[in-house]
Amino acid sequence: MLNQIKEHISEVEKFQANTAEAVEAFRIQYLGKKGVLNGLFSAFKDVPNDEKKEFGQTLNELKTKAQEKVEALKTALEEKEDQSGSGLDLTMSAEPMRMGSRHPLSIVKNEIVEIFARLGFTISEGPEIEDDWHNFSALNLPDEHPARDMQDTFFIQRDPDYLLRTHTSSVQVRFMEKNQAPIRTLSPGRVFRNEAISARAHCIFHQIEGLYVDENVSFADLKQTLLHFAQEFFGKETQIRLRPSYFPFTEPSAEVDISCNICKGKGCNICKYTGWVEILGCGMVDPNVLENCGIDAKKYTGFAFGMGVERITMLKYQIKDLRLFFENDVRFLDQFTSA
Ligand code: DAH
Repeated sequence: MLNQIKEHISEVEKFQANTAEAVEAFRIQYLGKKGVLNGLFSAFKDVPNDEKKEFGQTLNELKTKAQEKVEALKTALEEKEDQSGSGLDLTMSAEPMRMGSRHPLSIVKNEIVEIFARLGFTISEGPEIEDDWHNFSALNLPDEHPARDMQDTFFIQRDPDYLLRTHTSSVQVRFMEKNQAPIRTLSPGRVFRNEAISARAHCIFHQIEGLYVDENVSFADLKQTLLHFAQEFFGKETQIRLRPSYFPFTEPSAEVDISCNICKGKGCNICKYTGWVEILGCGMVDPNVLENCGIDAKKYTGFAFGMGVERITMLKYQIKDLRLFFENDVRFLDQFTSA
Protein backbone atom coordinates (compact mmCIF):
# COMPACT_ATOMS: atom_id res chain seq x y z
CA MET A 1 0.00 0.00 0.00
CA LEU A 2 2.79 2.40 0.95
CA ASN A 3 4.55 1.62 -2.32
CA GLN A 4 1.37 2.34 -4.20
CA ILE A 5 1.24 5.84 -2.66
CA LYS A 6 4.87 6.42 -3.54
CA GLU A 7 4.16 5.47 -7.14
CA HIS A 8 1.32 7.99 -7.15
CA ILE A 9 3.69 10.65 -5.83
CA SER A 10 6.15 10.10 -8.63
CA GLU A 11 3.31 10.08 -11.16
CA VAL A 12 2.04 13.39 -9.81
CA GLU A 13 5.53 14.86 -9.97
CA LYS A 14 5.92 13.80 -13.57
CA PHE A 15 2.49 14.92 -14.72
CA GLN A 16 2.31 17.69 -17.35
CA ALA A 17 -0.67 19.22 -19.17
CA ASN A 18 -1.20 22.13 -21.46
CA THR A 19 -4.95 22.35 -21.64
CA ALA A 20 -7.37 23.42 -18.93
CA GLU A 21 -9.36 20.20 -19.52
CA ALA A 22 -6.36 17.98 -18.86
CA VAL A 23 -5.59 19.83 -15.61
CA GLU A 24 -9.22 19.47 -14.50
CA ALA A 25 -9.22 15.74 -15.32
CA PHE A 26 -6.05 15.38 -13.25
CA ARG A 27 -7.62 17.27 -10.34
CA ILE A 28 -10.69 15.04 -10.42
CA GLN A 29 -8.55 11.92 -10.68
CA TYR A 30 -6.59 12.78 -7.52
CA LEU A 31 -8.54 15.30 -5.50
CA GLY A 32 -12.14 14.66 -6.64
CA LYS A 33 -14.76 13.10 -4.37
CA LYS A 34 -14.17 9.65 -5.79
CA GLY A 35 -10.53 10.36 -6.47
CA VAL A 36 -7.36 8.52 -5.53
CA LEU A 37 -6.81 10.49 -2.33
CA ASN A 38 -10.27 9.97 -0.89
CA GLY A 39 -9.93 6.29 -1.73
CA LEU A 40 -6.66 6.05 0.14
CA PHE A 41 -7.92 8.06 3.10
CA SER A 42 -10.82 5.68 3.52
CA ALA A 43 -8.39 2.75 3.46
CA PHE A 44 -6.48 4.43 6.31
CA LYS A 45 -8.58 2.79 8.99
CA ASP A 46 -7.47 -0.70 7.84
CA VAL A 47 -3.77 0.11 8.10
CA PRO A 48 -2.07 -1.61 11.06
CA ASN A 49 -1.40 0.81 13.91
CA ASP A 50 2.40 0.69 13.71
CA GLU A 51 2.31 1.66 10.04
CA LYS A 52 -0.29 4.39 10.44
CA LYS A 53 2.22 7.17 11.06
CA GLU A 54 4.32 6.62 7.95
CA PHE A 55 1.22 5.92 5.85
CA GLY A 56 -0.42 9.12 7.03
CA GLN A 57 2.64 11.24 6.35
CA THR A 58 3.12 9.82 2.86
CA LEU A 59 -0.54 10.24 2.08
CA ASN A 60 -0.40 13.89 3.17
CA GLU A 61 2.67 14.36 1.00
CA LEU A 62 0.73 13.00 -1.99
CA LYS A 63 -2.18 15.34 -1.26
CA THR A 64 0.00 18.43 -0.98
CA LYS A 65 1.91 17.52 -4.13
CA ALA A 66 -1.31 16.97 -6.12
CA GLN A 67 -2.74 20.30 -4.91
CA GLU A 68 0.47 22.15 -5.72
CA LYS A 69 0.63 20.55 -9.13
CA VAL A 70 -2.92 21.63 -10.01
CA GLU A 71 -2.20 25.22 -8.90
CA ALA A 72 1.10 25.37 -10.78
CA LEU A 73 -0.42 24.06 -14.01
CA LYS A 74 -3.37 26.47 -13.77
CA THR A 75 -1.09 29.48 -13.24
CA ALA A 76 1.10 28.46 -16.17
CA LEU A 77 -1.94 28.18 -18.42
CA GLU A 78 -3.29 31.58 -17.35
CA GLU A 79 0.03 33.25 -18.06
CA LYS A 80 0.10 31.71 -21.50
CA GLU A 81 -3.42 32.96 -22.20
CA ASP A 82 -2.55 36.50 -21.11
CA GLN A 83 0.35 36.58 -23.49
CA SER A 84 -1.59 35.26 -26.45
CA GLY A 85 -4.38 37.71 -25.74
CA SER A 86 -7.16 35.19 -25.53
CA GLY A 87 -7.67 36.24 -21.90
CA LEU A 88 -8.83 39.61 -23.21
CA ASP A 89 -11.88 41.00 -21.49
CA LEU A 90 -13.94 42.42 -24.31
CA THR A 91 -16.45 43.98 -21.94
CA MET A 92 -13.84 46.20 -20.34
CA SER A 93 -14.19 49.88 -21.35
CA ALA A 94 -11.35 51.08 -23.53
CA GLU A 95 -8.72 53.62 -22.58
CA PRO A 96 -9.81 56.97 -24.02
CA MET A 97 -7.79 57.66 -27.17
CA ARG A 98 -6.37 61.12 -27.70
CA MET A 99 -7.16 62.08 -31.27
CA GLY A 100 -5.04 64.51 -33.17
CA SER A 101 -6.78 67.09 -35.32
CA ARG A 102 -6.07 68.96 -38.49
CA HIS A 103 -5.05 72.56 -38.18
CA PRO A 104 -7.99 74.85 -39.04
CA LEU A 105 -5.96 76.38 -41.87
CA SER A 106 -5.44 72.91 -43.38
CA ILE A 107 -9.13 72.06 -43.01
CA VAL A 108 -10.10 75.22 -44.89
CA LYS A 109 -7.36 74.86 -47.50
CA ASN A 110 -8.45 71.27 -48.23
CA GLU A 111 -12.07 72.33 -48.52
CA ILE A 112 -11.23 75.11 -50.98
CA VAL A 113 -9.04 72.77 -53.02
CA GLU A 114 -11.88 70.23 -53.20
CA ILE A 115 -14.36 72.80 -54.46
CA PHE A 116 -12.06 73.88 -57.27
CA ALA A 117 -10.97 70.31 -57.99
CA ARG A 118 -14.58 69.57 -58.89
CA LEU A 119 -14.28 72.33 -61.52
CA GLY A 120 -11.18 70.66 -62.98
CA PHE A 121 -8.49 72.69 -61.22
CA THR A 122 -5.29 70.84 -60.35
CA ILE A 123 -2.76 71.77 -57.65
CA SER A 124 0.57 73.40 -58.41
CA GLU A 125 3.30 74.55 -56.08
CA GLY A 126 6.31 76.83 -56.26
CA PRO A 127 9.28 77.70 -54.04
CA GLU A 128 8.95 79.98 -50.99
CA ILE A 129 12.30 81.57 -51.84
CA GLU A 130 11.73 83.36 -55.13
CA ASP A 131 13.63 85.49 -57.58
CA ASP A 132 12.58 88.95 -58.69
CA TRP A 133 11.24 87.75 -62.03
CA HIS A 134 8.64 85.32 -60.66
CA ASN A 135 7.48 87.44 -57.72
CA PHE A 136 7.48 90.83 -59.48
CA SER A 137 8.77 91.49 -62.99
CA ALA A 138 6.88 88.79 -64.88
CA LEU A 139 3.71 89.91 -63.08
CA ASN A 140 3.92 93.32 -64.70
CA LEU A 141 5.70 94.90 -61.76
CA PRO A 142 8.92 96.17 -63.34
CA ASP A 143 11.71 97.76 -61.29
CA GLU A 144 10.62 100.97 -59.59
CA HIS A 145 6.93 100.08 -59.89
CA PRO A 146 5.29 101.75 -56.87
CA ALA A 147 3.15 98.69 -56.09
CA ARG A 148 6.34 96.82 -55.14
CA ASP A 149 6.63 98.90 -51.99
CA MET A 150 3.18 97.90 -50.84
CA GLN A 151 4.32 94.33 -50.33
CA ASP A 152 6.88 94.79 -47.50
CA THR A 153 9.25 92.27 -48.98
CA PHE A 154 11.78 90.23 -47.00
CA PHE A 155 14.87 90.26 -49.19
CA ILE A 156 17.39 87.46 -48.83
CA GLN A 157 19.88 88.91 -51.28
CA ARG A 158 19.97 92.04 -53.47
CA ASP A 159 21.18 92.29 -57.02
CA PRO A 160 20.29 89.77 -58.22
CA ASP A 161 17.32 89.79 -55.88
CA TYR A 162 16.22 86.74 -53.95
CA LEU A 163 13.32 87.15 -51.59
CA LEU A 164 10.62 85.34 -49.64
CA ARG A 165 7.63 85.34 -51.95
CA THR A 166 5.10 87.98 -51.00
CA HIS A 167 2.21 86.24 -52.74
CA THR A 168 1.39 82.95 -54.46
CA SER A 169 0.94 84.80 -57.77
CA SER A 170 4.56 83.80 -58.43
CA VAL A 171 3.32 80.22 -58.95
CA GLN A 172 1.09 81.46 -61.83
CA VAL A 173 4.21 82.56 -63.63
CA ARG A 174 6.07 79.31 -63.00
CA PHE A 175 3.07 77.27 -64.11
CA MET A 176 2.51 79.20 -67.35
CA GLU A 177 6.22 79.00 -68.17
CA LYS A 178 6.00 75.20 -68.05
CA ASN A 179 2.48 74.53 -69.36
CA GLN A 180 0.50 75.70 -72.35
CA ALA A 181 -3.21 76.60 -72.29
CA PRO A 182 -5.75 75.36 -71.43
CA ILE A 183 -4.72 75.87 -67.80
CA ARG A 184 -6.77 75.41 -64.66
CA THR A 185 -4.61 75.42 -61.57
CA LEU A 186 -4.79 76.24 -57.89
CA SER A 187 -1.65 77.12 -55.91
CA PRO A 188 -1.88 77.04 -52.12
CA GLY A 189 1.13 78.06 -50.06
CA ARG A 190 2.86 80.19 -47.47
CA VAL A 191 3.74 83.81 -48.18
CA PHE A 192 5.83 86.32 -46.24
CA ARG A 193 5.63 90.04 -45.60
CA ASN A 194 7.54 92.27 -43.27
CA GLU A 195 4.54 93.35 -41.24
CA ALA A 196 4.16 93.91 -37.51
CA ILE A 197 2.36 90.98 -35.90
CA SER A 198 -1.12 91.84 -34.62
CA ALA A 199 -4.61 90.35 -34.35
CA ARG A 200 -5.09 91.07 -38.06
CA ALA A 201 -1.64 90.70 -39.61
CA HIS A 202 1.29 88.34 -39.48
CA CYS A 203 4.62 88.13 -41.26
CA ILE A 204 3.77 84.59 -42.41
CA PHE A 205 0.39 83.70 -43.81
CA HIS A 206 -1.25 81.51 -46.44
CA GLN A 207 -2.75 82.25 -49.82
CA ILE A 208 -4.44 80.27 -52.52
CA GLU A 209 -3.93 81.45 -56.06
CA GLY A 210 -6.23 80.42 -58.89
CA LEU A 211 -5.49 80.62 -62.61
CA TYR A 212 -7.68 79.79 -65.60
CA VAL A 213 -6.38 80.31 -69.13
CA ASP A 214 -8.12 79.19 -72.31
CA GLU A 215 -9.67 80.55 -75.48
CA ASN A 216 -12.60 82.91 -74.85
CA VAL A 217 -12.34 83.08 -71.08
CA SER A 218 -14.35 86.11 -70.01
CA PHE A 219 -15.02 88.21 -66.94
CA ALA A 220 -18.42 86.51 -66.71
CA ASP A 221 -16.62 83.16 -66.28
CA LEU A 222 -14.59 84.68 -63.45
CA LYS A 223 -17.66 86.06 -61.72
CA GLN A 224 -19.62 82.83 -62.04
CA THR A 225 -16.70 80.71 -60.81
CA LEU A 226 -16.26 82.89 -57.73
CA LEU A 227 -19.99 82.94 -57.00
CA HIS A 228 -20.02 79.15 -57.20
CA PHE A 229 -17.05 78.97 -54.83
CA ALA A 230 -18.60 81.40 -52.33
CA GLN A 231 -21.88 79.47 -52.24
CA GLU A 232 -20.17 76.09 -51.91
CA PHE A 233 -17.92 77.29 -49.15
CA PHE A 234 -20.06 79.75 -47.16
CA GLY A 235 -23.54 78.43 -47.98
CA LYS A 236 -26.07 78.57 -50.80
CA GLU A 237 -27.58 81.88 -49.72
CA THR A 238 -24.22 83.71 -50.02
CA GLN A 239 -24.02 86.62 -52.46
CA ILE A 240 -20.90 88.20 -53.91
CA ARG A 241 -20.08 91.77 -54.83
CA LEU A 242 -17.25 92.87 -57.14
CA ARG A 243 -15.59 96.22 -56.54
CA PRO A 244 -13.25 97.68 -59.19
CA SER A 245 -9.66 97.59 -57.99
CA TYR A 246 -6.10 97.64 -59.24
CA PHE A 247 -3.50 94.88 -59.47
CA PRO A 248 -0.56 95.21 -61.89
CA PHE A 249 -1.04 91.63 -63.14
CA THR A 250 -4.75 91.82 -63.99
CA GLU A 251 -6.81 94.15 -66.14
CA PRO A 252 -9.54 94.79 -65.29
CA SER A 253 -9.14 93.94 -61.58
CA ALA A 254 -11.64 93.57 -58.80
CA GLU A 255 -11.91 92.88 -55.11
CA VAL A 256 -14.61 90.44 -54.12
CA ASP A 257 -16.82 90.72 -51.05
CA ILE A 258 -19.24 88.11 -49.79
CA SER A 259 -22.46 88.92 -47.99
CA CYS A 260 -21.61 88.67 -44.28
CA ASN A 261 -22.22 85.06 -43.27
CA ILE A 262 -22.40 85.99 -39.60
CA CYS A 263 -25.12 88.65 -39.48
CA LYS A 264 -26.62 87.69 -42.88
CA GLY A 265 -26.30 91.27 -44.05
CA LYS A 266 -27.94 92.90 -41.03
CA GLY A 267 -24.67 94.44 -39.86
CA CYS A 268 -22.22 93.25 -37.19
CA ASN A 269 -18.69 94.09 -36.07
CA ILE A 270 -17.14 91.47 -38.37
CA CYS A 271 -18.49 93.23 -41.49
CA LYS A 272 -18.16 96.61 -39.75
CA TYR A 273 -21.92 97.09 -40.17
CA THR A 274 -21.70 97.09 -43.98
CA GLY A 275 -23.15 93.59 -44.56
CA TRP A 276 -20.17 92.69 -46.78
CA VAL A 277 -16.68 91.25 -46.13
CA GLU A 278 -13.78 91.18 -48.53
CA ILE A 279 -12.37 87.73 -49.31
CA LEU A 280 -10.14 87.99 -52.37
CA GLY A 281 -8.59 89.91 -55.25
CA CYS A 282 -9.03 88.91 -58.86
CA GLY A 283 -9.11 90.00 -62.48
CA MET A 284 -8.42 89.12 -66.09
CA VAL A 285 -4.78 88.15 -66.52
CA ASP A 286 -2.96 91.10 -68.08
CA PRO A 287 -1.87 90.21 -71.66
CA ASN A 288 1.67 91.33 -70.70
CA VAL A 289 1.78 88.60 -68.06
CA LEU A 290 0.62 85.95 -70.55
CA GLU A 291 3.28 87.05 -73.03
CA ASN A 292 5.97 87.19 -70.30
CA CYS A 293 5.24 83.54 -69.62
CA GLY A 294 5.21 82.41 -73.25
CA ILE A 295 1.45 82.23 -73.81
CA ASP A 296 -0.06 83.79 -76.95
CA ALA A 297 -2.20 86.64 -75.62
CA LYS A 298 -3.93 87.07 -78.98
CA LYS A 299 -5.30 83.58 -78.80
CA TYR A 300 -5.83 83.10 -75.08
CA THR A 301 -7.37 85.05 -72.22
CA GLY A 302 -7.55 84.09 -68.58
CA PHE A 303 -8.62 85.04 -65.12
CA ALA A 304 -6.75 84.85 -61.83
CA PHE A 305 -7.60 85.30 -58.19
CA GLY A 306 -5.79 85.21 -54.89
CA MET A 307 -7.29 84.69 -51.45
CA GLY A 308 -5.96 84.72 -47.90
CA VAL A 309 -6.56 81.42 -46.10
CA GLU A 310 -6.34 82.97 -42.61
CA ARG A 311 -8.97 85.55 -43.49
CA ILE A 312 -11.38 82.97 -44.85
CA THR A 313 -10.80 80.66 -41.88
CA MET A 314 -11.45 83.52 -39.45
CA LEU A 315 -14.73 84.27 -41.19
CA LYS A 316 -15.80 80.64 -41.32
CA TYR A 317 -15.09 79.90 -37.65
CA GLN A 318 -15.48 83.43 -36.27
CA ILE A 319 -11.91 83.55 -35.01
CA LYS A 320 -11.01 87.05 -33.85
CA ASP A 321 -7.22 86.89 -33.52
CA LEU A 322 -4.99 85.71 -36.34
CA ARG A 323 -2.11 84.98 -33.97
CA LEU A 324 -4.01 81.92 -32.65
CA PHE A 325 -3.18 80.08 -35.89
CA PHE A 326 0.53 80.20 -35.15
CA GLU A 327 0.67 79.63 -31.41
CA ASN A 328 -0.26 75.94 -31.51
CA ASP A 329 -2.16 76.17 -28.23
CA VAL A 330 -3.85 72.79 -27.87
CA ARG A 331 -6.90 74.40 -26.25
CA PHE A 332 -7.47 76.23 -29.53
CA LEU A 333 -6.53 73.37 -31.87
CA ASP A 334 -8.61 70.78 -29.97
CA GLN A 335 -11.78 72.57 -31.02
CA PHE A 336 -11.29 71.40 -34.59
CA THR A 337 -11.05 67.69 -33.76
CA SER A 338 -14.30 66.63 -35.37
CA ALA A 339 -14.09 68.98 -38.33
N1 DAH B 1 -1.41 88.66 -55.24
C1 DAH B 1 -2.43 89.49 -54.66
C2 DAH B 1 -2.06 89.80 -53.21
O1 DAH B 1 -1.23 89.15 -52.66
C3 DAH B 1 -3.75 88.78 -54.68
C4 DAH B 1 -4.27 88.65 -56.09
C5 DAH B 1 -5.05 89.67 -56.61
C6 DAH B 1 -3.97 87.57 -56.84
C7 DAH B 1 -5.53 89.59 -57.90
C8 DAH B 1 -4.47 87.47 -58.15
C9 DAH B 1 -5.25 88.50 -58.64
O2 DAH B 1 -4.21 86.42 -58.92
O3 DAH B 1 -5.72 88.39 -59.90
O4 DAH B 1 -2.63 90.69 -52.65
